[in-house]
Amino acid sequence: MDSACVIGQSIYDLDTPCLLVDLDILSGNIERMQRMADSAALSLRPHIKTHKTPQIALMQQRAGARGLTAAKVSEAEVFAAAGFEDLFIAHEIVGPQKVRRLAALARYVPRLAVAVDSVACARGLSEVFAAEGLEIGVILELEGGAERCGVQPEELLPLAEQVAALPGLEIRGLFAYAGRAYTGVPLEECVRVECQLLSEQAERLRQAGHNVEIISGGCTPTAPYYTRDCGLTEIRSGTYALNDRNQIDLGVCTEGEVAATVLTTVVSVPTPERAICDAGSKALATQVGQVSEGFGWLWGEPEGVFYRLNDEHGYLNTGPLSSRPQVGDKLRVIPPRALTCLNLYNEMVMISEEQVVDVWRIAARGALQ
Ligand SMILES: Cc1ncc(COP(=O)(O)O)c(C=O)c1O
Repeated sequence: MDSACVIGQSIYDLDTPCLLVDLDILSGNIERMQRMADSAALSLRPHIKTHKTPQIALMQQRAGARGLTAAKVSEAEVFAAAGFEDLFIAHEIVGPQKVRRLAALARYVPRLAVAVDSVACARGLSEVFAAEGLEIGVILELEGGAERCGVQPEELLPLAEQVAALPGLEIRGLFAYAGRAYTGVPLEECVRVECQLLSEQAERLRQAGHNVEIISGGCTPTAPYYTRDCGLTEIRSGTYALNDRNQIDLGVCTEGEVAATVLTTVVSVPTPERAICDAGSKALATQVGQVSEGFGWLWGEPEGVFYRLNDEHGYLNTGPLSSRPQVGDKLRVIPPRALTCLNLYNEMVMISEEQVVDVWRIAARGALQ
């Protein structure tokens, strides 16, 4: 354990910077998302890249989640070792080292699937899996408006034909990532386009004789908008467990629903407008292309923004604050994106009513391959 902390201790007695996760808020977020999925008769397959922590995945599974989504083979390894049996790596796995690790994983994970959006990617998988006498599930990726990976609708059937002809691969369905939800497109519209795309293409795949048991979409902001007849079988929301400033600014959650905050100490107050804290870019991740402009926001003071980070220093704009922070004060900071911030820490201090209740290791932290 990195943090020298004691159960029952006040968070304001902890050393800083440290990552706090409020267990009550986390539980509430997990239950709320599960209710949304249930009310649309969708399976929830949470993306674990957000929290990278098997204890949280267990909470999600106990609430009703079916299967997990991962981004990396190394993340899937951590969750497989923790006993999770249904894993979808929603990422194209390319390169012999990764594919061999995937094959090792397939020997003991009962349900394992990966994303494929090219014949080159499928061939790389097939060579290793067929040589080892193994089979892996393939979920074909459609480009869902995020302009990231995925094929266009007219490319789907030709890809499916070629994948189906390769040994060691079993097509299980298709998916898309609704990343447009983070670009200001109205969320209902985002969901309408996503569901239409996925259900139409699923039908084409079925009519061509392919197996389509999984039609997977969704992310955190889109979750409230699915209906029972939306045409998907599952959603893969991830950020909802912790929430962050992006979700607040998108109108998806309130501050009281943000579970992950960073505790930092004011180390200098050089001017009335500026306080310097001990959380810099190694404690509050710098952000790329996110919704919210800034590096962190004070809990309870939405105008208290961290406007600049150095390696070990965070610059807080104290001008708009109701009271001026003093050297030695401990402050709670909401990160713009919980996921990139959490990946900087080895462990999360679990809290309830501002007291420490446990410390959980972020077991897949740094799992990049
Ligand atoms: C493929 C995929 N699925 C699901 C998600 C989860 O989205 P969110 O973080 O909005 O919950 C992501 C997040 O980036 C993703 O890349």
